[in-house]
Amino acid sequence: MTITDPAHKSMDDIVALCKRRGFVFPASEIYGGLNGFWDYGPLGTALKNNIRDWWWKRTVECPPIGPDGEPVSIVGLDSSIIQNPKTWEASGHVGGFSDPMVDCTESKKRYRADQLHAAAVITSDEYQENHPLQLTMVWFAWLENDEVSRAQAYRKAEKFVKKNGGKFDPSQHASFMFLAGADPQEDVSIEDRAMLLGRIVGPDTDKPGTLTPPRDFNLMFETYVGAIRDEDAKAYLRPETAQGIFLNYLNVLNTMRVKMPFGIAQIGKSFRNEVTPRNFIFRSREFEQMEMEWFCAPEDSPKWYQFWKEERMNWWESLGISPENLRFRDHDEDELAHYSKMCVDVEYQYPFTAPGFGELEGVAHRGCFDLTQHQTHSKTKMEYFDQERQLRAKEAGKSKEEIDAVSKYIPNVIEPASGLTRAVLVLLCEAYTPDDSRPSKVFMKFKPRFAPIKAGVFPLVAKDGMPEAAQKLYLDLRERFAVQMDVKQNIGRRYARMDEAGTPFCVTIDGETLSDQTVTVRDRDSQGQQRINISQVETFLSEQIEQ
Ligand code: GAP
Repeated sequence: MTITDPAHKSMDDIVALCKRRGFVFPASEIYGGLNGFWDYGPLGTALKNNIRDWWWKRTVECPPIGPDGEPVSIVGLDSSIIQNPKTWEASGHVGGFSDPMVDCTESKKRYRADQLHAAAVITSDEYQENHPLQLTMVWFAWLENDEVSRAQAYRKAEKFVKKNGGKFDPSQHASFMFLAGADPQEDVSIEDRAMLLGRIVGPDTDKPGTLTPPRDFNLMFETYVGAIRDEDAKAYLRPETAQGIFLNYLNVLNTMRVKMPFGIAQIGKSFRNEVTPRNFIFRSREFEQMEMEWFCAPEDSPKWYQFWKEERMNWWESLGISPENLRFRDHDEDELAHYSKMCVDVEYQYPFTAPGFGELEGVAHRGCFDLTQHQTHSKTKMEYFDQERQLRAKEAGKSKEEIDAVSKYIPNVIEPASGLTRAVLVLLCEAYTPDDSRPSKVFMKFKPRFAPIKAGVFPLVAKDGMPEAAQKLYLDLRERFAVQMDVKQNIGRRYARMDEAGTPFCVTIDGETLSDQTVTVRDRDSQGQQRINISQVETFLSEQIEQ
């Protein structure tokens, strides 16, 4: 029986297969690893490159047809990982890109305060009916004990309880009331909060009171540029690829003959010193992003937001991910990042979130926040003069003020921002298919286009001219496809190895090949075999892979 339900796939098994077959290894493993860092092995690199190339193809080289029936215009970029540090002041990352962090003095472990609720418990009978929700509120109230954040805590609490099928009644949740107050107007004293903290038992200890109060922790990795290590030489590894695009907006505009609306796309590494990297490569400290900034006239931005939202879902489905494992989640107003007017996440049902979903990509309406910030901080004008709008306004007989108002503007930005390494995780989870009926007990059901190896080429036995015929076919095919020749072990073992690698086809040269020029092609998913002429193998593969 094959298993496709994410809730029945084990992350431990997926991680083990990734290591066993060379998809993903812990970074610097021989030195004990480094938390939050991963190395992509030969198959993982090929899988990642295939996803990367498909995103580039569908974003830059062959982007979708826009809502008006014309192809949209998007150009590529590869900007520096380290930029002038003023970039990150302007973008808001120096002041605001932080997570609340809590240390345990006993276990010496560090946690993200807003994720701690899953494991920590409050002792004391008074708080026994404690609910995971309440601990989130503990940290919330502790960190930002003001009216606005308490009101937010109320809204979050209400949403959480309703989502779990309950009716929200704060008086039923003693510790919630204790912290957030019976109503959001009420302050919570520092003594009360200290007392509560003293009763909390952290996830990796038995003693209460070993957790420190949360404090803000900036997620950017710092480094120094040049020989002198002082404040003036401080720089940052980029936490997102997006800002490199904003910094080059004028360069692209002045060199590429693009006009509004248009996009700039970039794929590259980003770095975040995450407080608690977790769930394999889901949240790591070094990862890759695929981001596109779509610049448009402010009035057109709602149309483009809707367009990119739908296009991005189409793209994820084109990877072969089943639609029931994908969904949209619109951000509530209180969740929006400081730069964002509207945001929707594309979410995936990961085995570690199932039956719930987790973030895969964000499509954000960033307004004119970034370009305005860079205009202010760099004193470089980012305004766009829109000749076409000017002409249309003139033709419509508008006044000079009206014409100026529509033809000069700082563009708005719609940003589809996804993680390439997170996409790798999604394809690994989606493809992982336990199947008791086959020797490998599992196979990786990648859509052929994304499979690291497209075909295995096997001589049935290493004699009677079969290895030579297989070698010739292999040399021909490798000009076009990632193929692998395997002569070792019995054919069943070779199939099993390819099943675990997710190779969609195995081509076997046997005794008949030498007499009638036919080979068997074994299909990974059905395990069925068909005989075709050796001269048709290339066409067969290209038809299957390009689907
Ligand atoms: N420029 C906007 C931006 O960076 P984000 O939601 O912080 O937005 C976009 O990141 C995407 O990058 C996420 O949806 C996720 O796929 C990926 N991502 C973010 N942090 C990550 C991490 N620590 N590890 C792996 N992927 C991450």
